Amino acid sequence: RDAQMRWALGGPIAPAGPDAAPGQRAVVMTMGALHDGHLELVRRAREEAGPNGQVVVTIFVNPLQFAAGEDLDAYPRDLDGDIAKLAGVGADVVFAPTPDVVYPDGDPVVRVSAGHIGDVLEGEHRPGHLDGVLTVVLKLMHLVRPDVALFGEKDAQQLLAVRRMVRDLEVSVDVVGVPTVREPDGLALSSRNAYLSADERQRAPALSRALRAGAAAADRGADGVINAARQVLDGAEGVVVDYLALVDPVTVEAVADDFSGHALLLVAARVGSTRLIDNQAVEVS
Ligand code: PAJ
Repeated sequence: RDAQMRWALGGPIAPAGPDAAPGQRAVVMTMGALHDGHLELVRRAREEAGPNGQVVVTIFVNPLQFAAGEDLDAYPRDLDGDIAKLAGVGADVVFAPTPDVVYPDGDPVVRVSAGHIGDVLEGEHRPGHLDGVLTVVLKLMHLVRPDVALFGEKDAQQLLAVRRMVRDLEVSVDVVGVPTVREPDGLALSSRNAYLSADERQRAPALSRALRAGAAAADRGADGVINAARQVLDGAEGVVVDYLALVDPVTVEAVADDFSGHALLLVAARVGSTRLIDNQAVEVS
């Protein structure tokens, strides 16, 4: 295990002259099946790391964050394709461990809890999911020892939970959020989009359409935002909503009717058997 890590972190570092500014180590954690959303994180990581720094990309489909009956076995995997894509966007090191490297003693006994953040929204539909995410994120942070870690705003609740973990547990890593990369029709890029049939692919942009409608109603208060978004989803055939919520971006609790200020509008819905999530920041007035 140590030998594997030495290999992983002893990868090529851009040559640094005597006056070169010291670089940072930036990490992008992924589950592979990389798309342009992931690659945008890597490009941003390259900027954060600087020319003398090091960009580490981890590829690991973390069993701990999948519940029984979820798509752990079916999750798309394409390590060779992923490595080819990463070469073009400034990654220095790919760390793609097998489960026995990350969990040498089997399932960890001591884990990170996302607290109430892990119980709401995604947590209601995927109990234990965010605990599994935080546990592997902290483990990977300890294995890679980054200065900076980049996460996508696409998984907003995950990003908020990671920020909270870093703050609550004094993890000395800077967390950087990267805006969601979308298809031209608004659909947020996701590895799970590969599961969509042609017909479902046509329906899927209803999520981002609903978020935009909600944001456009920002001057009608919290109720106005939710109602505008719900109207779009109600009119979308074959889209089954798990939740639609307007929350405080720190506490992840639903905002009150008379709320004004910075909020996050989140949606999760099933299109056929594929579960999609998306979100958008809204300045409610
Ligand atoms: P994964 O779904 O592979 O996503 C890896 C990173 O890419 C996450 O930070 C995610 O938010 C970001 N990302 C995904 N789609 C994006 C898009 N369209 N635009 C911008 N960023 C996007 O999230 C995970 O893996 C796992 O939970 C992980 C953090 C690796 C822990 O196992």
